[in-house]
Amino acid sequence: MGGNSGAGYDRRGARSIVGASPDRQSPVTDDYANPLRLAIYLEIGWSDYFFAPPARGKRDGALPYPNPFVDRVPPDFPRHVARLAKLWATRIGLNATTYCDIGGATGRAVFEMERTLPALQRLLLVEPSTLFCEWAERLLASGAELPPVPVVDRSGAQKLVAVVTRPPPIANAHERLSIVNESLEDYHPQGRFDLVTCLNVLDRHPSPRLLAEELPRLMSDRGLLVVSCPFDFREESTPDKEQWVGDLNELFTNDQWEHVGADELFYEYRASNRQWTRLCAQVVGKRCTGFDASVATRRSSCRQNSSHTASAFLTRAPAPTK
Ligand SMILES: C[S@@+](CC[C@H](N)C(=O)[O-])C[C@H]1O[C@@H](n2cnc3c(N)ncnc32)[C@H](O)[C@@H]1O
Repeated sequence: MGGNSGAGYDRRGARSIVGASPDRQSPVTDDYANPLRLAIYLEIGWSDYFFAPPARGKRDGALPYPNPFVDRVPPDFPRHVARLAKLWATRIGLNATTYCDIGGATGRAVFEMERTLPALQRLLLVEPSTLFCEWAERLLASGAELPPVPVVDRSGAQKLVAVVTRPPPIANAHERLSIVNESLEDYHPQGRFDLVTCLNVLDRHPSPRLLAEELPRLMSDRGLLVVSCPFDFREESTPDKEQWVGDLNELFTNDQWEHVGADELFYEYRASNRQWTRLCAQVVGKRCTGFDASVATRRSSCRQNSSHTASAFLTRAPAPTK
């Protein structure tokens, strides 16, 4: 497939971030633009690189047991999802060369997928949070030294610490990687992707069903979609409780999607070191079959835009914690 993301990497400014469309249909919000959210997502994404392994057994009289004041959430989830994607791609004989992650925060799924599926040539992250996009660019595209990062702490994320090490940037990121600072609803690629992931985004959307309907237009013929959801619905992000589905198969039905695989993975994060949250996410692999592209294409062509400009923030209702 073409795999043209529709978003270029601007080498002049050494930036891969493409700003939001001026005629967007949904507000680009930055619910995640605060130090605590950034701390949470940097930890679940990059704790293995950023922080020294905790010293065990140092507490007075304590057993050498995980200590929530020094242990960090490991980035197990994106690692396992990448393995599942590889397994399921092999199962259907797919040699994916193009990949798009929707709502990928600071980019760990892109990083893992690139390592796990060596045939991937084009990588794309679509993420409405500008702050997350900036960090994704730093982490995935640039080898520069990182500034101190906010950390999850007892008091929220008031503390900044120097990182121990940083991940290596993706090889040839300037040619292979695009980061699009938009919501999925406003993103219109010129090409399609062999592999698309949408991980733990549906339960942070006002209408999971509408978001799910946007996914097929990104996908190449017989491409693989990997979706996960811990069903941690909240009224602040999904006010209409009718939308609170309990199974991904309700959104990705057999008449339009061929079942490729299913699993369950823990999805963990810490909002403070007094609150270590472990959710269980359903993960499914699906392949488009009888998808009627006309709906998405119609919707898409109404909003098609050719130019991208600098992004701007719009605000909306209070943000979810996750
Ligand atoms: C709960 S976080 C999950 C982040 C990451 N995928 C993970 O599994 O850790 C939800 C992410 O979805 C993004 N998001 C929310 N609405 C979106 C939309 N309409 N299109 C694309 N991404 C969206 C948020 O900015 C946030 O980064």
